[in-house]
Parts: sequence; structure tokens; C-alpha cells
Amino acid sequence: MITHKKLSNGFEYIEVKNSAAEAKIALQGAHLFHYARVDEEPILWLSEVSDFEPGKAIRGGVPICWPWFGFHENKSLPQHGFARVSMWELVYSDESDEKRTTLTFRLTNSNQTLKIWLYKFELELHVTISDKLTMELKTTNIDDKEFEITQALHSYFKVSHISNVSVKGLDKKPYLDALTYKNEVQEGDISFNQEVDRVYQEVDGKIVLKDKKREIIINNDGSSSVVVWNPWIEKTSRMSAMKKDAYEHMLCIESANAFDDARVVKPQKSHTLKATIF
Ligand code: BG6
Repeated sequence: MITHKKLSNGFEYIEVKNSAAEAKIALQGAHLFHYARVDEEPILWLSEVSDFEPGKAIRGGVPICWPWFGFHENKSLPQHGFARVSMWELVYSDESDEKRTTLTFRLTNSNQTLKIWLYKFELELHVTISDKLTMELKTTNIDDKEFEITQALHSYFKVSHISNVSVKGLDKKPYLDALTYKNEVQEGDISFNQEVDRVYQEVDGKIVLKDKKREIIINNDGSSSVVVWNPWIEKTSRMSAMKKDAYEHMLCIESANAFDDARVVKPQKSHTLKATIF
């Protein structure tokens, strides 16, 4: 079942329930902020104190960072681009299979976007809610000049406790440590006892988030970069919409096209970044 819902402040989202799973996706940002298989714990983390307000990104779920990832060199422009705080349209839905619901959200250029990013585009998010969660972010260049994008499906995963988890699949991969700006190479699995903010490159296989009682698998297509981020104690205290112990229960593993993995999209061509999570 697909239901359009509205909070008392007017914030709109789509609720999906089928025989395999349920999800919630805000029209602002096409921001999926809940996904759980039937009778299972949510896969994604959502801040208990997140704002659901126009113009502010929800803290948790899967914000869409687009058309740039991270800071823009023009510091007056928003970190992680404008897609996550723009209003998208739900343009297609299919629930003919009781175990699977598919939805397409669309964002196109407007006078406002053209002021901060000079290109005409069509951006679509195809979401499939089933016993797996798939998100395909398709960028189409409808301009007459090429453009370059960096982007991420910035997934926040819910974990039992950050000290219980490890991330597999990135052994021997080079990464940029965003805390020191040094290039490093991963040795073994990643575990967490301090702030981590890294952009892995040359990633070509599945990533496994291993927790005490479950494993989450992340498969990416159209991407060779993955961001692994936990803000730890001090950064959490400076961040919006985070309780002070929030870092203990979340870990971001972001399916990305970032830094060396930026993509050029030629006129009338598309690029799709896809994440499958289960
Ligand atoms: C991550 C970055 O992708 O996003 C972090 O690697 C950043 O450096 C984080 O702090 C959250 O960003 P924001 O803009 O949602 O607070």
C-alpha cells in the first residue's frame, strides 16, 4: 500500500507497506528515512531529534548528495549540494507485486537551481522496496554542454553499538582520510574507536557491515568510491539534529562518486549510481 502522509507542519512523505517490507520517503530530497523488512529491526538509522522541516536535511536515512559531494569551493553554497533539500515529485509507482513496490521521484532544473548550478538536468530516484532495498539515482544531462557531478547515496545504518561493528570489503583499498587530508591504504577490516571520515577509491566488490547479531550487505553499481563516516563524540556535539550519544548507534557507508570517481555526463547522456542493500 502506498499512502501520502503529511505532518502537522506540512512536511510530506510517502509511506510504503507490502508483504515483505515497509519504508518512508520524504518528497523533500526524495529522502528515504525508514526501511525495515517485516518483523525485523529497521536497517537505517534516523535521529530521534531530526528536523522534519522545509529546507533542512533529515538527519538519518539516505540523504541524496548531488550535484556535488562535500563542500563546494564557493562556501556560500550548501554542503552536499541542493538535491537533499529540494522538493521532488513522485512521478511513477507500481505495486502490482505484493512483495515489491517501486517508486520513481524526479527533480529537474528550475530558475533557482540554475542560479547555483548552471546546467539543465533531470534527476530521478528509482526506489524498490522488497526484501532488499534498491536505490538507483539517474542523472540525465538535458543541457547542450557537458557537466561533472560528484554524489552519494549517504546511507546512515543503524547499529547495536559502534564498538560492536566492523566493515569488510575495503581491505587494500586506497582512501583519502578527510580528517588529515592524507592518502592511505586500508589494512584489513575497519573497526571504530575514534572519529572516522574516509573516502575509499577503486572499490569493486560488496561491502559488509557486520554487527553483533546481523550483517548488512551493500552492493554498488556505477560507483567505485565509498565513504565511511562516524563523527564520534566531539563532532557529534557540534552537529545539528544529533543527540550527544547518537554516534554510538549509527554508521554511514555511502555509495558514492566522489573525488577521483567524479563523473562527466555529456549532453543527452545519463549516469546511474545504484545501491542495493539487504
Ligand atoms: C559525510 C562527510 O559524508 O557527511 C562528513 O564525510 C560530514 O564530513 C557528513 O560531516 C554529514 O554532513 P552534513 O552536511 O549532513 O552534516
